[in-house]
Amino acid sequence: MVIEVEGGSRAAGELAIQGAKNAVLPMIAATVLCRENVVLQGCPNIRDVDAMTSILKEIGADVTWDGDQLIINAASADGCEISGKAAGEVRASVLFLGSMLGRNREAGICLPGGCSIGARPVDYHVAAFETLGAKAIQENGKICCSVERQGENVVELPYPSVGATENVILFSVLRDGRTELRNAAKEPEIVELCCFLRSMGARLSGEGSSTILICGVKRLHGTTYRLKSDRIVFLTYAAMAAATGGKAVFRVFGDTFRREKGYLEQAGCAVEYIPDEDRLPSCRIQVSGENGIRAVPYIRTGPYPEFPTDAQSLFLALLSKAYGESIIEESVFENRFLVASQLRKMGADIEVAEQRACVRGVSRLHGETVCATDLRSGAALLVAAAMADGTTRIHNAELILRGYEKPAEKMNELGIHARM
Ligand code: UD1
Repeated sequence: MVIEVEGGSRAAGELAIQGAKNAVLPMIAATVLCRENVVLQGCPNIRDVDAMTSILKEIGADVTWDGDQLIINAASADGCEISGKAAGEVRASVLFLGSMLGRNREAGICLPGGCSIGARPVDYHVAAFETLGAKAIQENGKICCSVERQGENVVELPYPSVGATENVILFSVLRDGRTELRNAAKEPEIVELCCFLRSMGARLSGEGSSTILICGVKRLHGTTYRLKSDRIVFLTYAAMAAATGGKAVFRVFGDTFRREKGYLEQAGCAVEYIPDEDRLPSCRIQVSGENGIRAVPYIRTGPYPEFPTDAQSLFLALLSKAYGESIIEESVFENRFLVASQLRKMGADIEVAEQRACVRGVSRLHGETVCATDLRSGAALLVAAAMADGTTRIHNAELILRGYEKPAEKMNELGIHARM
């Protein structure tokens, strides 16, 4: 699949930001813990959601869409085996391990494997399950777990892994007694998962800090939950608006993205909230790059609250035409600078040595035929294509659809010509 972008126009207009992918994927896995209807409002219609719902169907759940609402009934989702094909399509499939174990005390899944951004093992997940009383057997690319004993009540992760934190939470909400998770990830999507589970009757506290306490309950009830907007999608279109020297307004739900505002401002963008008291908790954020983009001396990605690795490629693209030199250091995934070679084809001056990229701003990028290597590199290429002179053809564009709803149409809404 190819997406073609005609660069050079200044972005303008208003865009609503879709619900957060990294929040909805663990919620979809969590529905296995509940036998009543769960309605996820503002659910993004993206390929990773399709992949997670096809797994739900494989284990027996009913899944329907009603506009932007995803309605799930997992009353009959008693399956505890997930096939290789389904698991291979989305890495978050590993989160079904926690929820299937919570529901059935046993679970088997083909390992999702590595991907182009790095090896992405699941050893922290497995070790945590074992501490909590599960036995895990890994062979032939498959992992089978069963709960054999009560296990410890305290588990500490060696690194604040987002997925391992979510898996421990999913495993523990129906578990007997109290589970204390230490060195937990603090990402906003973890906080959202906990709010969602609380809306179903789960008892947990401490999310957003490094210790999360979970007190097991007997059952969860149905819920209707409205997803917050996706912070990385906001940054993508905001970077695009600013990179083209334009100005655009973004409608977001449930968050004011203060941290993201700071990142954009560091790069010289002007970011303003447009007061709209009647619409809270929605808000409108205006982003402008009319005064030009400037280099950011040093960015280092890391677990929240550090700079998000998912925004790293976007900033590589944004800063490639900034005035001055920027250094970006990647500390989360080992292979996240693959996009640099594609940006170089478009005229960017980026040097990568190990986990560090040095970006020297150039005055122009030109349209090229390039290739997305992962979801976020694809999004970064959209940003670069919007600010390049001429036409850019991005191959492997299906990777972008894993996380972005109708990207070409959204770009058109911002006045940037794109088609798929
Ligand atoms: C999640 C996000 C992803 C984001 C990442 C880091 C979802 C669906 N995906 O991925 O978009 O880029 O957080 O913010 O929410 N690791 C191990 N062993 C493990 C688990 C992780 O070595 O058992 C390593 C990984 O290889 C990586 C680092 O820990 O180097 C962080 O991974 P983790 O936080 O688990 O990311 P994901 O949950 O996979």
